[in-house]
Amino acid sequence: MTSASAPGKIILFGEHAVVYGRPALAVPVAQLHADVEVSDSSKDGIWIDAPDINLHAELKSLPSNHPLAAVIDKFFTLLSSPHFRKTKMGGQRGVEIKIISTIPVASGLGSGAAVSVALIRALSSHLSRPMTNEQVNALAYEIEKIHHGTPSGIDNTVITYAKPVFFVKGQPIETFRVGKPFTIVIGNTGISAPTKEAVGDVRVLWEADKARWEKVFDKIGEIAEKAKERIENGEWELIGDLMNQNHALLQEMTVSSPELDRLVSAALKAGALGAKMSGGGRGGNMIALVRPETAEAVSRLLKEASAKNTIITSIHP
Ligand code: MEV
Repeated sequence: MTSASAPGKIILFGEHAVVYGRPALAVPVAQLHADVEVSDSSKDGIWIDAPDINLHAELKSLPSNHPLAAVIDKFFTLLSSPHFRKTKMGGQRGVEIKIISTIPVASGLGSGAAVSVALIRALSSHLSRPMTNEQVNALAYEIEKIHHGTPSGIDNTVITYAKPVFFVKGQPIETFRVGKPFTIVIGNTGISAPTKEAVGDVRVLWEADKARWEKVFDKIGEIAEKAKERIENGEWELIGDLMNQNHALLQEMTVSSPELDRLVSAALKAGALGAKMSGGGRGGNMIALVRPETAEAVSRLLKEASAKNTIITSIHP
């Protein structure tokens, strides 16, 4: 049996504007992870067991645009062995692929990309066909296109490299230093909201008034640049205000929601230094920057303001 794991992620700054070439900051969240095990099976064929999404099926019964089928197909195409999908996993055996993820689906925490990355790594190790991070990332990006339409590639990148990433679409991967550790509380609205829709709606706005939205994206890009500098200098207390500014611009872009706004206000009232939605928006998760000693209080007040659950996580150098 071989296994692989990939973390979830949060976007600290720059979601949506990143699709239009502006920089964004994202970090992995180790408490959340997708785990994939690949084992030989006495049963013929390739079987997928993904209890979180209630799926137990033979691969060949899935439509080819099913994201899990697409990952496996593209993986074998890369290895120049497309016939594997239709028959067996090489040799004379069948295989069982078990996928377990603690990352809530459609919540802005990178569940799709984490499953893709873990699945690609588990398959490559099972077949003793090692892949570089670059190859894993490129393949996971292809799958993100099926999930999200026009993704920037930030999710698959931060998840593949499992490091803080200063991401600019189409540019070589750039990590950033965390001068001093800081604490973030993640609050989940419990509302699942596909990123594809929010990204599509922003595109409609942009098409209708490019000049206006390019300015908004510029402002978000400047915020992300400043935040990177402050985080690298260990001045994490100074990024709270930047988070609030970023959230206001995301509200203007219509990708926040009453539930996200309620959690952002609750976090600020509870003493957070700054707060914003994180990821695609419309539901999913928000993040709050807190002093470690107020993390529990902020988390409690988020739950009182109807967060479905919260995670306290620290961002390390
Ligand atoms: C999703 O985690 C982040 C978005 O900016 C979409 C993307 O970058 O692909 C909303």
